[in-house]
Parts: sequence; C-alpha cells; structure tokens
Amino acid sequence: EGLARPGAELGDLQAAFRRHHALQCGFCTPGILMSAAEFLARVPHPDEAQVRDMLAGHLCRCTGYSGIVHAILEVAAARAETSSHA
Ligand code: FES
Repeated sequence: EGLARPGAELGDLQAAFRRHHALQCGFCTPGILMSAAEFLARVPHPDEAQVRDMLAGHLCRCTGYSGIVHAILEVAAARAETSSHA
C-alpha cells in the first residue's frame, strides 16, 4: 500500500507485476516490491544481471522469477523514457 498512488491506484511497479504475472501466491511479493522500489531509486538503469542479483536475497517458490525481472526492467525503461521527456 505504500507504493500505491493516492486514491489506492496501483503504482507503476505493482501494475507491472500484474501485467507480467510476476506473482502467484503473493507471499514473496511485498518484500520484492519494496526491494525493487529501493533498488530502482539507487540503480535507475539496471540490466537484467543487476536485477537478478538484487533478487538473490528473495525466495519465490511460484514464479520462476522471469515475470518479476521483466516487470522491473519494464518499469526502469518506462521511468527513463518519462524522465527523458521531462
Ligand atoms: Fe508465491 Fe513468490 S508468488 S512465493
């Protein structure tokens, strides 16, 4: 809920996780979302290896991580695109 936009709309990371089916049972999702939010603030243009390294401390028994990685990379690219137009 800390990542949601005012009015309870999903934040960009949350929406990307939904689009990429980056969660199933959801047990791991809050921790991964918070880590991803902090990671993207620190590393705004990560490559896939950096995202996978950040995820190394998280265990997800459902997704196989591909959707999670794709969601995080998509948000990084979208934010870079938005900031380049600002
Ligand atoms: Fe079930 Fe990650 S979605 S453990």
